[in-house]
Amino acid sequence: MSSTKLDAPVRRLTATDLSKLKGKTPIVCLTAYTAWTTRLLDPHADLLLVGDSLGMVIYGMPSTLSVSLDMMIAHGRAVVAASTRPMVLVDMPFGSYESNPVQAFENAARVMAETGASGVKLECSASMLETVEFLVARGIPVMAHIGLLPQSVNTLGGYRARGHDNGEAQSMMELAKSLENAGAFAILIEATRELIARQIHDSLRVLSIGIGASPACDGQILVTEDMLGLTGPKTAKFVRRYAELGREMSAAIARYAADVREQQFPGEENTY
Ligand code: KIV
Repeated sequence: MSSTKLDAPVRRLTATDLSKLKGKTPIVCLTAYTAWTTRLLDPHADLLLVGDSLGMVIYGMPSTLSVSLDMMIAHGRAVVAASTRPMVLVDMPFGSYESNPVQAFENAARVMAETGASGVKLECSASMLETVEFLVARGIPVMAHIGLLPQSVNTLGGYRARGHDNGEAQSMMELAKSLENAGAFAILIEATRELIARQIHDSLRVLSIGIGASPACDGQILVTEDMLGLTGPKTAKFVRRYAELGREMSAAIARYAADVREQQFPGEENTY
């Protein structure tokens, strides 16, 4: 009699698993918002971030400021359902965590319960230290985002890289260390001078994840649509375009339009 051997289910990576990679294997992180793209990312990524950049990338908003908690939950649920192995984190959107630690906990707990995600990311200034500690103490893994903070575009005066003057660089280094002490399992460093990002990385026991930061970071993240050439044509200096899918899509759509107009589509093979 032959026995059927069932494949063991793929175990999703946790914050603890990723932390063990520090100093050994660079961690591959990308953003994800929708099911089909997530299925393509799943075999390659260690961490998927449902970033609030979806406001601009998916909804065409001018900034991330109008993204709601419900939008993050809807996309978070799709990404968790379509992935098997990577850790999935959901960004807390503007206005959902800054008032006080209790507001942050209630909304982060809702995100985790309704999406199945394994943690959240918060954009952090020093005012967020108490909140990070509060969330971690209550079972919520936190990735703390420092450097260029898109949700603070109106107070920081735009999307410029951070840490150019010594005072700002020093504050960033202190902030990263304080966030580590508050319990963040990873510090995401965005658009910061390479030397400063490297110094932050060198000072940390927890993971450093870079976007426009330093190759020394423990992992790298990009917005998937940026690196696939689906946004732009202008993108940040830190983006490397691995494909020009926008151009390919545009050419394919033009071919379809021409076929319809010339009655070349549908063909025999497409009709019943
Ligand atoms: O929202 C986002 O996609 C992000 C990445 C740029 C890291 O925060």
